[in-house]
This record gives sequence, C-alpha cells and structure tokens, in this order.
Amino acid sequence: MFITFEGPEGSGKTTQIRLLAEFLRARGNEVLTTREPGGTEISDQIRAVLMNLRNTAMHPRTEILLFQAARAQLVEQVIRPALNRGALVISDRYADSTLAYQGYGHGYPLEELRRLIAFATGGLTPDLTFLLDVDPARGLERKQRKGEWNRLDAYDLGFHQRVRAGYLEMAQAEPHRWVVVDASRTIEDVQEDIRRAFHQRVLSR
Ligand code: TYD
Repeated sequence: MFITFEGPEGSGKTTQIRLLAEFLRARGNEVLTTREPGGTEISDQIRAVLMNLRNTAMHPRTEILLFQAARAQLVEQVIRPALNRGALVISDRYADSTLAYQGYGHGYPLEELRRLIAFATGGLTPDLTFLLDVDPARGLERKQRKGEWNRLDAYDLGFHQRVRAGYLEMAQAEPHRWVVVDASRTIEDVQEDIRRAFHQRVLSR
C-alpha cells in the first residue's frame, strides 16, 4: 500500500504523517515514511540544488527534470523495495506535486509532465492520496514564521493559489484515490479525519 500526502506550503503534512505512522505502527503494520524531494543520499543532494536560495537562475525545465531525477532514485532505492516486502509506504509529496507546482503553478502542459513522471517512476502511482488543503497565504505565513523559507516558497502568492486550485481539480477528477482534508483546523481534528478516511478506504475494503 502506497499513501501520499500533498498540499500547499505549511499545510502540516509532516506532523500528520508522523501521527498516522505512529498509529499504524501501533496496529502492527510495517510503515516506511519518506519525503520528496529527498529520501535517499542522491535525492538529498538533488534537493539541496533545488532548494538553494542562490539558484535564482534555475530554469523551470531544469527544475522539472531535477524533481524527476530525485524521484526516480527514491522509487527504485526505497519505495519499490519496501512495497515489495509488504510494507506500507507514506510519502510526504510525490508526483502530484510536480503536476500541481510545475503544471498548474508554472503552466507547463500536464500531459508532458505526466509522460516525464511515468518515465521517472516506472509507472508507480499511489493507492491513496491525502490533500491537506489550506489557504496558501496562511500556510506561507506559518512557514516564514518558523524560518523554513526556501527558493520555491519565494514564488508569488498567485503561483501558490494556482497550485492549490490545481490540487483541488486533481482531487475532483480522481475521487477514488484522493481524500481532501481541511487542514486549517487543529492537528487533532485533521488527524481524526485522516484516520477515519484510512479506515473507510483501506481497512473496510
Ligand atoms: P519543502 O520545504 O519540503 O516543503 P513542504 O514542507 O511544503 O513539502 O519543499 C518542497 C518544495 O518543493 C515545495 O515548495 C513543493 C516543491 N515541489 C515541486 O515544486 N515539485 C515537486 O515535484 C515536488 C516533489 C516538490
């Protein structure tokens, strides 16, 4: 089972993933958590290039390919082997981030991006995707306050609003895979929704 978490900046994905993983481990599941871009030594090196505030000259096509490169390594080195041995894998961001940020955000054609993603992942798609939906202005403010500002956060608010709208559109187009959660509420309320959806979609299947 492969679960991904998506959402705009500062939507609280990391905390929610930690809580869900703790819950599932307590139930006896083997759970592997990872994040994108990153999750392997090579992917972390690519991440450093992507996030570096000095790389203002980075062309969006370069950015797109670096994200796919980091992902290809993560899929082959970590995600696929874990799935093959029966583990439950939870990833903080995956291919839908490329469609949301590079596609809806930067305006690159979704069909082209889908082909690159299919190549990078060898066709591996999530079984379940949580969208932690929050107003990007709020999320960005939260991140800036915590000092976790990176090169991609520095894109304007319009960009982040397109990203959010893109996520919502993708969720609507594929409702059997996506679960949209209102992430503007307390950590506990958001986690409760996530666990309930997990029960409905996975345990009672
Ligand atoms: P990170 O600091 O990990 O942000 P977050 O905590 O919100 O996940 O930075 C990841 C950034 O990379 C984030 O701005 C989203 C962006 N991103 C893309 O633009 N395309 C992608 O394919 C991926 C995986 C991430």
